[in-house]
Amino acid sequence: MRRPDLTLETSPVALRDLHPRTAMEAREVLAGLRANPKSLPPKYFYDREGSRLFEEICDQPEYYPTRTEIAILEARADALANRLGREVLLIEYGSGSSRKTRILLDCLPEPVGYVPVEISRAALEGAVEGLLEEYPGLSLYPVCADYMELRSLPFADLPEGKRVLFFPGSTIGNLHPREAVALLRNMRAVAGPGCALVLGVDLRKDAAVLERAYNDRRGVTAAFNLNLLRHVNKALEGDLPLDAFRHRAFFNARLSRIEMHLVATRAVTARVAGKTVRFGEGESLHTENSYKYSAEEFTELLKGAGFEASAAWTDPRKYFCVFYAESAR
Ligand code: AVI
Repeated sequence: MRRPDLTLETSPVALRDLHPRTAMEAREVLAGLRANPKSLPPKYFYDREGSRLFEEICDQPEYYPTRTEIAILEARADALANRLGREVLLIEYGSGSSRKTRILLDCLPEPVGYVPVEISRAALEGAVEGLLEEYPGLSLYPVCADYMELRSLPFADLPEGKRVLFFPGSTIGNLHPREAVALLRNMRAVAGPGCALVLGVDLRKDAAVLERAYNDRRGVTAAFNLNLLRHVNKALEGDLPLDAFRHRAFFNARLSRIEMHLVATRAVTARVAGKTVRFGEGESLHTENSYKYSAEEFTELLKGAGFEASAAWTDPRKYFCVFYAESAR
């Protein structure tokens, strides 16, 4: 059943629910499990347990991106506020708990509104409730949507202001560079002429540092990767044996990306959505790519998407980069 738009009792906030497809699609999953080589889209990591495990990954000592990006945003808050100026309408893609947004909201003088775009309605509602309490004067325009499919902002009454897209977390790195350009072009179209972008991207670095970040000692990333099979089993009445797979993550230097795989440690025959799927011993299921860029490469990628970068802030170790860019046309 479709739930109605949300109106919170204290302050009416019209949440626009575009009813994104979140269910696992049997056809897509079966095609991936039966292909050669096998792969599944990383969007299926994020069931409730997967989202919880991702939050836990962010706290692991080896997984530097989250805390490095937060440190950059905090250190550059004044510079950011200067670039963004007054009367900003902040539009965040994949806002989740809006944790990093607070750094921007705390430094922006008189923002005219915040548009969080988030696929999980529960996460969006939780974030809205928290923000209403913490920023009572802030106008909120929450959108429950898959940002890959968003073509316009579903509000007729958005306030005038400089539209600033916020896309932290190096989530852009999970897309192939060609798809990354397409998404950024689309974001530009959604925000409109004169928009700006604040985006975080993980930088290429020593392979050992990268590989440690995706092979944490406590095995949280391994659990996150394996949880994908649990999610498939639950959603599609599968019986993939989790104990027959091991987590593998490595840096593919030629393609400049971390690849995550699940490798079958023995031959497996299983049922998923009423069909048989087979793995040979040692056969790999490719579950995620995480592209790593140099600041120069990413500046070029932004150019290809119609954005001119005017600032690229990094940390002392040059692990991560936060870009400020403006729509070129
Ligand atoms: C969400 N994304 C940016 C994370 C990354 O680093 O590519 C997902 C992740 N996968 C394993 N660890 C974290």
